[in-house]
Amino acid sequence: AVNDSEVTPFTVPSYACQRRSTLENHNAVLTDALSLLAENAELSDEDGRGVAFRRAAAVLKALPSAVTNMSQLTGLPCLGGHSLRVIKDILENGTSSEVESTKESERFKALKVLTGIFGVGSKTADRWIREGIHNLQQLRDSGQTLNRAQQAGLEHYDDIKQPVSLAEAEAIRGIVGRAVASVSPEAQIVLTGGFRRGKLTGHDVDFLITHPEEGSEVGLMPKLVSWLESRVSCHLQNVLLICDVIFLCAFQQERIKRCEIKLLALRCRITYSEQDETTASPSTTERRWRAVRVDLVVSPISQFAFALLGWTGSKLFERELRRWAGHEKGMSLSSHALYDNKQGRYIRASSEEEIFAHLGLEFIPPNERNA
Ligand code: GTP
Ligand code: MN
Ligand code: MN
Repeated sequence: AVNDSEVTPFTVPSYACQRRSTLENHNAVLTDALSLLAENAELSDEDGRGVAFRRAAAVLKALPSAVTNMSQLTGLPCLGGHSLRVIKDILENGTSSEVESTKESERFKALKVLTGIFGVGSKTADRWIREGIHNLQQLRDSGQTLNRAQQAGLEHYDDIKQPVSLAEAEAIRGIVGRAVASVSPEAQIVLTGGFRRGKLTGHDVDFLITHPEEGSEVGLMPKLVSWLESRVSCHLQNVLLICDVIFLCAFQQERIKRCEIKLLALRCRITYSEQDETTASPSTTERRWRAVRVDLVVSPISQFAFALLGWTGSKLFERELRRWAGHEKGMSLSSHALYDNKQGRYIRASSEEEIFAHLGLEFIPPNERNA
């Protein structure tokens, strides 16, 4: 055992947006435990507690090696009493009793299953649980009225739950790219979200679309959605992709009209040809149909840098950027703009680098925003 006096405490800056968080995590056991408690808090509508656990987990993710001794944590930011108790429990006993009992609790399990349905939030899930609905079968048998998104979410539950691979994301980029090119030849499309941060899987595929000429992006979203809805099949390099849009719901229709954002699921069959074995998944030449969640955002070029930064994530990194802007700089940051509260004016930026500079932060590239 290491003597406490010989232990050098770790140091990290307070805000996640001041840190470089790669996908490498030397403290996965601890961060998985804290993330589970965060998820439980969020599913119970205790967002404040959820954020506290997420911040604590992010600090541990940023450490250069595994924590072995509580004294290494002295002076680290964002580690509250509750998080420290969980960490101590795991370091001493290998597990945290609180985490284990949460994981096993009927309520947590039911909340996870029910909110896993596209279109079902924690409030709806909570109401169902109070009515004795704990799983998908009970929901199907209950005769509850489901909206269109929820019906589709239930129908495609297994597909949506299954992670999207990078190969699938690239294939979908091909088809969405073709759709964009055919409705607006000069428009540009970028992959954002977790895949831009270097993740190899995701719960969805996120795209940001813009047009080099301000104003020409107006009307692009509805055209794009119609194109995708018209059930298309296309060959891209060695990938055959057939897709149709399987769900849209009312609030999304509103969002399409505002030209802002669209969340949809594409039902895709991705067929890799034989000679593409090196880049496609090695053992699969053809996959069955599956539904994949896709987020589409259209941004005017003047807001593009803000949208790119805002949609690249991680969620905690974004939250911390906004907290830094507000608390340390007197500015308001969104995925549309940066506003200087003292000067009472908007600050323009045409790249992510410029936004970091305006915020007085060192530039953190996407693959180091995995807080
Ligand atoms: P996976 O999809 O699981 O790989 O993770 P991810 O990091 O890509 O997460 P997600 O797709 O949920 O979100 C990507 C980014 O989009 C994050 O930075 C979110 O904060 C942002 N985001 C998600 N939903 C919204 C929204 O409704 N509005 C805005 N402005 N941003 C959003
Ligand atoms: Mn995503
Ligand atoms: Mn998304």
